[in-house]
This record gives sequence, structure tokens and C-alpha cells, in this order.
Amino acid sequence: MRTFFMKLALIAGISTMAFSAHANGNLNLICSADVVICEQLKGMFEKETGIQVNMVRLSSGETYAKVRAEARNPKTDIWWGGTGDPHLQAANEGLTLEYKSPMLDQLQDWALKQAESAGYKTVGVYAGALGWGYNTDLQKQKNFKEPLCWADLLDPSLKGEIQMANPNSSGTAYTALATLVQLMGEDKAFEYLAKLNDNVSQYTKSGSAPVKSAARGENGVGVVFMHDAVSMTAEGFPIKPVAPCEGTGYEIGSMSIIKGAKNLENAKKFYDWALKAEVQSTMKDAKSFQLPSNKNAEVPKESPRFEDIKLIDYDFITYGDPQKRKQLLERWDKEIGAKAN
Ligand code: G6P
Repeated sequence: MRTFFMKLALIAGISTMAFSAHANGNLNLICSADVVICEQLKGMFEKETGIQVNMVRLSSGETYAKVRAEARNPKTDIWWGGTGDPHLQAANEGLTLEYKSPMLDQLQDWALKQAESAGYKTVGVYAGALGWGYNTDLQKQKNFKEPLCWADLLDPSLKGEIQMANPNSSGTAYTALATLVQLMGEDKAFEYLAKLNDNVSQYTKSGSAPVKSAARGENGVGVVFMHDAVSMTAEGFPIKPVAPCEGTGYEIGSMSIIKGAKNLENAKKFYDWALKAEVQSTMKDAKSFQLPSNKNAEVPKESPRFEDIKLIDYDFITYGDPQKRKQLLERWDKEIGAKAN
């Protein structure tokens, strides 16, 4: 009997400890940007609020698929980062919740426009232009064509040297696909991608992986967001970021609360917090060089500026539509993915 009560007391003690450690509850977060910034945000938010954050890093397309699959019984409360298109697609399908944060009036127009166009079921947290990074040491060693334009990526000297992600899993690669369609027209874009396929050694799952392996010297070029190439340069790797000469698309990295979130109040706290200037100004500490959505946040000196890049007028409404996504991805699977090396 005595041991029974002792055990009971022990269990009670342990559960009180567990309770006090999570006194402010939990938050289930999916983070679709680079894991370093994801970990940094989790740590900062936990420290400031005492809310325990269960975070997983998943690419944008993977997250969209997971949120869809779990629509009846959501396991996620909030989705931070990743390209805006899948956030818009989720909003369009009613998978995310309308929320008007009191922070909205501090945001850049592009971030607000993203929110307005989705009935406030998502909001912009950062932006960045698409491009690539190439390894300048490898370029000299192997003497491949210096890739400055989309057209250069088709040069035979780059055979096997290019990596990009798979647009089914990666928002970066979906942005690349949508960008090429907008630049060239759909049929021409698929002709281009079929030729590019001859030079691509691998379609990765995550968007930034191609430039990370280029930094390690495993391939010459990684088609990624320019700020992901800049992160590698900042780490000291011989990576040169490129803004394609013909013009390029961009992302509005977004954030959405999942409809049916079990920890809704904590999700709203995170949402308001993540839009603060002080929070966004710390992104550079994780070598995350996107343009922040809060007007008062510091723009890192390393960040590629939109003024210096030839940008297309990316049509977020069209390419953020679930039907368009489905159609483009089916065509990509059939004409490109099925023929991948
Ligand atoms: C990187 C970039 C982010 C982007 C994300 C998309 O982490 O730094 O700006 O939103 O990739 O990831 P994905 O794996 O979906 O392409």
C-alpha cells in the first residue's frame, strides 16, 4: 500500500512538472523555410511566451498535401513560410482560417495584397526573387558556360551540372515552373524544361537543396531563390547568385492558420508575433536573407533587392489556383518527371 501511494505521489509530481513546463500550452507548427530559421523562430517564441512549439520542417507542396489530407482532423495549428502559391491554394480550398491580425497595418503592400486576395486566410511574411547560384570554382575547373540567362542553362557544357527541385514537393520549383510559363507561354516553357532536363542531374525534394550541393561542389548550378544562393556565399562558399537576364518570378512567403486548429489562441499569438518588425529583423541571424514583410523591419544588406532585378508581374491569382496547380503538375509529371535522369 505504501509503495502504491509513493508511486501515485511520484506520478502526480511528474505530471505537475510537465504541466508547469507547458503552462501556456502547445502550438503545432509546420515551417516551410530553411530549417535554421525555423529552429530560431521556435526557440525565440518558446522563450518569450512559454508556449511549447512542436515544429516540423516540410517543403511547401508537401505541407499543402498534408493540410489537405488532414482537413477533417487537423494536426497542425499554423503554417509559417514557404512560397505563397500553396498557401493561396489552401485558402482557396477553405483549408485555412480567415484572421485579420492587428499587425496588418505595419505590412508592405505586397504582403497585404496577398492577404486581401485570399480573404485574409493567409498573409505575406517575406519575399524573394527566383534565380540560381553557381559554383565559381567549378565553373573555372570544368569550363562550363557562365549561366547568366535562362537560355544559358541549356548549354551542353552544363550537362549533368544543374539541380532543381521537384515542383510537386517544392514551392521553389513550382515558382520556377510558373515563372517559365509566364515568361515563355506554356508550350514553350515545357519545351524549354524538356531540353533543360538533359542538363539536370537531380530533382530534389526541398527547394534550397540544389544550391547547398552546389556549395559542396557536387554540381555546378542550383536553381533556387536568390537569397538561398546568398546564404551560401555568406557561409563562405564560392557561390555566385544570379538574377536571370530575361527576367524572373518571385515568391511571397506566407503564413496561414489552419482551419480547425486545436490551439487557435496560440496560433493567433504566433501569427501576430511573427509579423513584428523586431522578430523579422532577426531573420538575418539565421542567414535568411528574404525581404521582410513588416515595413519597419531591417532589410539585411545581403538581401537581393527587387529594384536591382528584372521581375515579371507574377500572377499570384492564376498560379495560386488549385486547378492551375493540378494541371501544371500533371503536365510536368508526364513530360518532365517521367523522363528524369
Ligand atoms: C527556402 C527559401 C524560402 C522558401 C522555401 C520554399 O527555404 O529560403 O524563401 O519559401 O525555400 O521551400 P520549398 O522546399 O517548398 O521549395
